[in-house]
Amino acid sequence: MESDIKGLMNKYEYGLEMLQVQLNVLIKEYTKTHNYNPIEHVKTRIKSIDSIINKLNKKGYELTPNNIYEYVYDVVGVRIICSFISDVYEIVNLIKNFKQLTIIKEKDYIENPKESGYTSYHLIVSIPVYLNNRTEFGKAEIQIRTIAMDFWASLDHKIQYKFPNDIPEEVKNAMYNYAIDIKNLDHKMLELNKIMNKYKS
Ligand code: GTP
Ligand code: MG
Repeated sequence: MESDIKGLMNKYEYGLEMLQVQLNVLIKEYTKTHNYNPIEHVKTRIKSIDSIINKLNKKGYELTPNNIYEYVYDVVGVRIICSFISDVYEIVNLIKNFKQLTIIKEKDYIENPKESGYTSYHLIVSIPVYLNNRTEFGKAEIQIRTIAMDFWASLDHKIQYKFPNDIPEEVKNAMYNYAIDIKNLDHKMLELNKIMNKYKS
């Protein structure tokens, strides 16, 4: 079993490398044709075995390669940070129209924020892993959000870490309100950018 999981983690690592290359090419091509780079930065990570075990435990499944494939979408995680909300949707469409990647699930937490106030656009994609004599498939979670949404989410992550059981009401309420502030600011920045573009010759 040990080596099974090790082997699986290696495959996810190859899968992430493939995905990174594909996304880089997509973004490069977009940047060249539009003469504009919608990406601020990209972060990637592979989930640790401990976090995978935790997630499976919470969902009531044991640690097997098949359960990881079925129930843990985010072993491979990619986070794409954009400047403006419009850029987020540009990137979402770019990825959705890209024939090489199959979308398994799509969650628009920008239109429909989570209870906490969390906003982001999530795509769960199927990633092929080309091995020596066969092709296997894994899943990856791509989170696409603005810098402002990322600012909010990173503080929220610290809060969840600090209060694993229950978050004090005042903290919860503040974060919910700041999520609204973030949304308003994102829209103001977008409008300002449109005004700026008007001045471009
Ligand atoms: P998990 O929440 O990961 O167990 O999976 P899920 O199937 O419920 O998916 P969901 O779309 O809710 O969350 C996927 C990921 O989005 C999480 O692993 C986080 O990275 C991020 N996320 C979701 N909700 C929140 C939130 O309230 N705060 C922060 N900071 N991140 C969130
Ligand atoms: Mg969740």
